[in-house]
Amino acid sequence: MFERFAERARQVVVFAQDEARFRELYEGRQPLYEEVADGRAHDADDVVLAAGGVTVSAMPRDLVPGIGPAELVADERVLELHPPPVDARVLTVPPGEEAKTVATAERLWRELRLDRGGTLVAFGGGCTTDVAGFVAATYLRGIDWIAVPTTLVGQVDAAIGGKTAIDLPEGKNLVGAFHWPVRTVIDPALLETLPEEQRREGLAEVVKTGLLAGERLWELPDADLVRRCAVFKTALCLRDPYDDGPRQALNLGHTFAHALEAAAGYETVTHGRAVALGLLAALRLSGRPTDAVEAVRCGLRIALPRASDPAAPPTRTAGHPSTRASGGTSVFASIATPTNVAAAPMPIASSRSVVEIPLMKRPMSMSAAAPCCSIWPRRATCCWKTSRPVSWTGSASAGKCCTKSTRA
Ligand SMILES: NC(=O)c1ccc[n+]([C@@H]2O[C@H](COP(=O)([O-])OP(=O)(O)OC[C@H]3O[C@@H](n4cnc5c(N)ncnc54)[C@H](O)[C@@H]3O)[C@@H](O)[C@H]2O)c1
Repeated sequence: MFERFAERARQVVVFAQDEARFRELYEGRQPLYEEVADGRAHDADDVVLAAGGVTVSAMPRDLVPGIGPAELVADERVLELHPPPVDARVLTVPPGEEAKTVATAERLWRELRLDRGGTLVAFGGGCTTDVAGFVAATYLRGIDWIAVPTTLVGQVDAAIGGKTAIDLPEGKNLVGAFHWPVRTVIDPALLETLPEEQRREGLAEVVKTGLLAGERLWELPDADLVRRCAVFKTALCLRDPYDDGPRQALNLGHTFAHALEAAAGYETVTHGRAVALGLLAALRLSGRPTDAVEAVRCGLRIALPRASDPAAPPTRTAGHPSTRASGGTSVFASIATPTNVAAAPMPIASSRSVVEIPLMKRPMSMSAAAPCCSIWPRRATCCWKTSRPVSWTGSASAGKCCTKSTRA
């Protein structure tokens, strides 16, 4: 390091001429550097992570910076498996999508005792960080929060970038806020207790990131793939914090995914499973190979909704504003080449034919009457169809479940 400074010093200012003095000053100031540093960078990836407030490491003892009070919002199942990452009052949320409801958010608003100087720590998967982040964004008009993700989905995606949300019966992530956590601490060791099924759900997001990055990230060991995905997402979110441009590439497969989740009432089709199916549809739409998704998906049991429930509330096709349907079209992220992803408006009718194909890849015995989901502008419904390729006709505004015509 001295040589680097000395070389520069010769060019610009007179400084660092004496190596012994340089070392003495550097050693003396080291504690100060440590105290004020946001992170420690050894390479460009470290710089990106530090700029985004993201740490990939074992759980630090001083998780909450400063001296203000903290409270912990944690997934109750995760607390059975791991000690809380901070010594603080604990508010629990139920596992899964049930955490992302107005009722849970209201309970947290009412139970929190923090003042505006306090910090909310979220400990759990994507559902916990989404609801806790949203509560932090809105409680007292916004307080600091720290994300400690415990699932693969959370570590590679959900806890990074400041998007927070809860679901409504009408659709997923329909209420939310951009509220970047002051810190996201990713400890890959927390994944050791994750059931294989849940891990595979996270791999769907890893495949998405790998396709966008143009690297086979899903083939790396867990600790490495978590870090690479975290870097990729952090960099994209830093470039586009409010999701107005390049960040929308991260929606690859998600328009379909959100429609499937909504169609299943957020019960039988979890986010990771829906993303796997959505990616298949998006890759087909883009004319790209689907082998990476097939490899991840084969271990995922996907129970698709069987039939439209007349009592179910109407659902929207997607939660993200940029992917919401309107006027008979929806916006889909499609991939041309790695790193070249475009958000393209597409008629609802055409998008249906793409999503049918992955849905129909069922065992032969089931294919004669495979269930499929159709995507309407204002309602995601499901119906039965034959195994032969079909093209959809029928108008969404007519409110019919679906009308189909077979193709040779
Ligand atoms: N905000 C964003 O940018 C963003 C991005 C991607 C996904 N999401 C959201 O994330 C949610 C999905 O997140 P998820 O897949 O993490 O689901 P999740 O939070 O429901 O967790 C899945 C299950 O794993 C359990 N679990 C969590 N950590 C565990 C551990 N270490 N060991 C064992 N079990 C553990 C949980 O109790 C739960 O039952 C969706 O609602 C999705 O919309 C948000």
